[in-house]
Amino acid sequence: MAETILVLNGPNLNMLGVRQPEIYGRESLDDVRRLCEAHAERLGLTVDFRQSNIEGELVTWIQQARGSADGILLNAGALTHTSVAILDALLASEVPAVEVHLSNIHQREAFRRHSYVALAARGMICGFGVHGYVLALDAVAGILRHAPQR
Ligand code: DQA
Repeated sequence: MAETILVLNGPNLNMLGVRQPEIYGRESLDDVRRLCEAHAERLGLTVDFRQSNIEGELVTWIQQARGSADGILLNAGALTHTSVAILDALLASEVPAVEVHLSNIHQREAFRRHSYVALAARGMICGFGVHGYVLALDAVAGILRHAPQR
């Protein structure tokens, strides 16, 4: 059976395509979902693609990934920089996670340079727009194939 990758998108990512397109691009979140599904199929993976503006909902989904998902790809949006709850959920889930951001968070405001998610993620991909999701799926596939244990 194909391994399942939970692709989680945090606050305001439902506005992708209309929200600050000069930073985040013109593709919609639906375009990103299609991109992920097509690439996952090439990798022999299944994608469970979700978005929420609610921190607690993301925490619950990350908790539920324990025992039900093989990998997590997470763009936590602004919660990246604030949420200890998401960090704790990632640590509790023990599912390998890859952090992704559309923009290069290191080239922007200073507050975006710190990521709580990074403390639990295997690695981070940022600055490549929607293609970052493809790169992150490749990273998750690599972890599952070659280094399933930390
Ligand atoms: C983001 C970067 C965050 O700083 C920001 O709050 C977002 C999107 C990105 O994908 O570049 O909402 O995660």
